Amino acid sequence: MTKRLTPAHATATSPDQDFRGILKRIAQTRSSATVVFADFCRVVACCIAMQTREKEYHQAIKGYHKNDLDQLAKAMGLLISEMENRPFEDVLGQYYTQINSNATAQARGEYFTPPAVSSMMARMNLDAEKIKAQGQPVTISDPCCGSGGIILACAQTLAPHVDLMRVTLQDIAPTSCDMAYINTTLWGIPAEILLGDALAPETRHRWTNIHWHRVGEEERRKSLKLLGFIRELEDPPTPKPRPPPANTNPIKNSCVVV
Ligand SMILES: C[S@@+](CC[C@H](N)C(=O)[O-])C[C@H]1O[C@@H](n2cnc3c(N)ncnc32)[C@H](O)[C@@H]1O
Repeated sequence: MTKRLTPAHATATSPDQDFRGILKRIAQTRSSATVVFADFCRVVACCIAMQTREKEYHQAIKGYHKNDLDQLAKAMGLLISEMENRPFEDVLGQYYTQINSNATAQARGEYFTPPAVSSMMARMNLDAEKIKAQGQPVTISDPCCGSGGIILACAQTLAPHVDLMRVTLQDIAPTSCDMAYINTTLWGIPAEILLGDALAPETRHRWTNIHWHRVGEEERRKSLKLLGFIRELEDPPTPKPRPPPANTNPIKNSCVVV
């Protein structure tokens, strides 16, 4: 993503130029703002999953009229450009906190860590200069990740080397998983996202984003090469019979002459 810094207050104001306004309008004809937001997050996550989440996409758009789908597409464009203007800010998480009902928030403890606190924690726990100098991937996990705000703070600390991160995120709420998926994908953070109760052994779903497969690619290629050498030691390839050098077969030569 290009980093064009614009103050947060300079973002769109008219409802038509703000993803929040569009979602609110769609919600007027549907069940609730949180349901529309949940569907929106699922649609965006599926759209940036490089055709790996097509079934979920079709499930999410079921029941939306074509006009609403066009509006959702427009809202997605607006969200992405707003995120571009506010690098590593948790745009989705902030909006979710606003529209989420108190009852749901209390039941699941959905109060996201304030960005300043996440930033302080990231800087205290990551020796960014050492990690960048070593160039080795670091693994980070947040088993109750919400929208992934803490991971965004870690990424900001390591920027622009966010590809050194390898994060495992989990949440019990599907919308949190989708927000974390969007945040990590759009900021280039290699991530696997697990849906499920972090206190229980089973996982209901696992998604990996497009960046997850890129990390360690060079190491993987090196180890494959090494494995190839080892296989050859165990089972050396039979040498191919060498062709006779040209013009040394007296019979053939004599034939040519004849
Ligand atoms: C206080 S928020 C913290 C989110 C994020 N780690 C942060 O600091 O901003 C807690 C999150 O944990 C999730 N959660 C609650 N119980 C959970 C459980 N048993 N397993 C996984 N996630 C859970 C909630 O859905 C919520 O998103």
